Amino acid sequence: MKSSPRIALVTGANKGIGFEIARQLGQLGIEIILGARDKHRGMEAANALLQEGITSHALILDTTHGPSVRRARKYLQAEFGRLDILVNNAGIGHDMQLHPSQTPLDTIRDVFETNYFGVIAVTQELLPLIQQSPAGRIVNVSSSLGSLTLGSDPQSAYYDVKPLGYNASKSALNAFTVALAHELRDTPIKVNSADPGWCRTDLGGDTAPLTAASGADTPVWLATLPEDGPTGGFFALRQPLPW
Ligand SMILES: NC(=O)c1ccc[n+]([C@@H]2O[C@H](COP(=O)([O-])OP(=O)(O)OC[C@H]3O[C@@H](n4cnc5c(N)ncnc54)[C@H](OP(=O)(O)O)[C@@H]3O)[C@@H](O)[C@H]2O)c1
Repeated sequence: MKSSPRIALVTGANKGIGFEIARQLGQLGIEIILGARDKHRGMEAANALLQEGITSHALILDTTHGPSVRRARKYLQAEFGRLDILVNNAGIGHDMQLHPSQTPLDTIRDVFETNYFGVIAVTQELLPLIQQSPAGRIVNVSSSLGSLTLGSDPQSAYYDVKPLGYNASKSALNAFTVALAHELRDTPIKVNSADPGWCRTDLGGDTAPLTAASGADTPVWLATLPEDGPTGGFFALRQPLPW
């Protein structure tokens, strides 16, 4: 078992915001476990970070596949014996263009499988390893679209964006953040939700105003919070957001 600097696992890190979160954590000297469901894409991304001098390892991890999640836990246990940072970034938005009344149930279920159940599965499996860290940090990459307050405010920029599966899955993810932070409130572990903002990625599209690199900023900040930092919160641009 190696003794090393902080160890971070970022799920869905082969591209987009997850890749940038991995890169920025790596630039802080944190050892990166780059989760990717496709081996080739994961290795390519991990190699790109290695070229930049970042210690990174590709880990095949499909967050919706139980055996894959259990294999990830065994790998982390054997290699490091703990996990300091878990960034639940993997997410999908397969219903972004659909009206709530016409979104097939199966589509909504698929979105929940990745954006909600997958996050719970990974977190539950890895929590015993995070409890071995002196200062565990869990970051759930959510969205302002999951804010019921913003979504019901006609003045909000998010008022007219209503993909039911995506938005509800992020509201549910935020509920997980609140519940887990409460359970862990007397431990050193901090659990927070982050909205990266609307970013130019495969999910966000070409017209988004932000780069993936700028979207990574708040998740990275939450992943590296000091002991007196917040837990059980929801943040964008390092500022609190309404639930
Ligand atoms: N982009 C935005 O504007 C925006 C705004 C708010 C929140 N977010 C959130 O930010 C996170 C990252 O989004 P993004 O824009 O970077 O999207 P992206 O470019 O589409 O990347 C999504 C990543 O998640 C991975 N993934 C999907 N399902 C997975 C699964 N079952 N197991 C493991 N990995 C899986 C993808 O892997 P493959 O390459 O194999 O598909 C990919 O690496 C998501 O949670 C998203 O909801 C994004």
